[in-house]
Amino acid sequence: MPVQIGAKVEGFSNPTGLLSDCHRRIEMFLGSLEAVAKLLDRPLAEEARRALASALRYFREAAPKHTADEEESLFPRLRRITHPEVQAALAELDALEKDHRWAVPLHDEVERLGQLALSHGHLSNTEAEAFREAVGKLAAMYRRHIQLEDRVVFPVAARLLPAAEQAALAGEMARRRNAVPSFDAQMETHGAAQPRK
Ligand SMILES: [Fe+2]
Ligand SMILES: [Fe+2]
Repeated sequence: MPVQIGAKVEGFSNPTGLLSDCHRRIEMFLGSLEAVAKLLDRPLAEEARRALASALRYFREAAPKHTADEEESLFPRLRRITHPEVQAALAELDALEKDHRWAVPLHDEVERLGQLALSHGHLSNTEAEAFREAVGKLAAMYRRHIQLEDRVVFPVAARLLPAAEQAALAGEMARRRNAVPSFDAQMETHGAAQPRK
């Protein structure tokens, strides 16, 4: 199950587009975890090991930047807008932030068991079942969460956040990735843009 890292995505001139691109990567790496989860109670093949290592790295290193983009850069800007359409979307933000908190221990469990699988080559039946359960819960949450952000929150932000606020949002996203906050710049897929760490 090859995982694609390093493809170019939308530029900083469209910060909510970049946030949606992050969702496609979250979905892709969750797919990798779900596929690997079915194989963990037997010795892992090299391809599955690579897919697992890539997915664990994404959720360990890049996904927290996406959460910070939303909680520290996007949501506070939306909360300052009094437009009725934004106010309606704001009702969802508390629930979205709760989802972020709720996911943390599950990601910790997936990381712990995933690293165990990488070092031992497989997991016990009990550990494999715990991994499958944690990944299943995360996948179900992210399906609902991402749909809400992509269909409600981001379109409202794209239409109603003033240009200066969009630029500030993009700049903060770029700095979080040590990227040049230029609107011509492109951000790389795994969230750690140039220089790559
Ligand atoms: Fe989110
Ligand atoms: Fe998101």
